[in-house]
Amino acid sequence: MENSPYLCSGFQNRMNMKQIFMLLAAVLLTACSKDDEVKAATVQEAGKTLVVYYSYTNNCHEIVTSLTNQIQADVMRIEPADKTQKYEANNYAIGTALLNAIKANPNDAASYPAIDPVSITDLSQYQNIIIVTPLWWSQMAAIMQTYLFNYSAQMAGKNVALIVSSHSSGISGVVADAKRLVPDCTWMGDALWINASNHSNRASLIQNWLPTLNFESGTNAVKSLTPDPSRRGEGSIYTLSGKRLAQASARGIYIENGIKRIAQ
Ligand SMILES: Cc1cc2nc3c(=O)[nH]c(=O)nc-3n(C[C@H](O)[C@H](O)[C@H](O)COP(=O)(O)O)c2cc1C
Repeated sequence: MENSPYLCSGFQNRMNMKQIFMLLAAVLLTACSKDDEVKAATVQEAGKTLVVYYSYTNNCHEIVTSLTNQIQADVMRIEPADKTQKYEANNYAIGTALLNAIKANPNDAASYPAIDPVSITDLSQYQNIIIVTPLWWSQMAAIMQTYLFNYSAQMAGKNVALIVSSHSSGISGVVADAKRLVPDCTWMGDALWINASNHSNRASLIQNWLPTLNFESGTNAVKSLTPDPSRRGEGSIYTLSGKRLAQASARGIYIENGIKRIAQ
């Protein structure tokens, strides 16, 4: 977050990025006392986050549920066009064949298994993208590879993070696949690995991981604040889009100088 002189005194110092992030998940209301410098009248809205995932046996689905309990994000699940495939049959033969086809010709769209049309085709509204994928034979699951191959150009310049679910195998091969498929993004931090033995701990793993992401250089916080001298001394409450909601004395729950305050 930028060091803005227009934030309530004390607010900037006491709020860490995680707190701000959580506040954005609800509607962030800030209130200043009348003695404070005028509040922002114009606040640029924070960048939106998209969580995109594939899940064959629903472990990634459960991870995404835990994740979106902690952050505000749009969610999109990738589905294979052919839903009859049993990837685990014959010692995972189908899954292996799909991966081998990609490995043989990674730059050819025909190497990637078909997926259903996705619900969000325009990624321009998202600043941050979190990819959640299973590991297959130490690589990224083929279905998720198809999505990234198709949409990687739209992810250029965006902040991207990765969560990988495996039974037990390490995830360096999946990270390498992600970097190959999405070469022009900014990786927000190290990928989070969730395996079978800590899957039940996923909420706390995610909670510890989120602050390690460089969301700060992303825009999951107030980007900039513009003073409005005509409102000096008003002591009002604003939404993130800069709309004045009420006087600070109105009933409600406020964050004032970093402290929750209930006005009844
Ligand atoms: C085709 C296939 C290959 C897999 N290969 C591995 C592997 O090499 N190592 C491993 O630890 N887990 C492997 N797994 C297990 C998955 O990574 C693990 O169960 C993961 O949590 C599945 O996520 P999902 O339930 O969201 O599909 C494989 C699963 C499938 C279907």
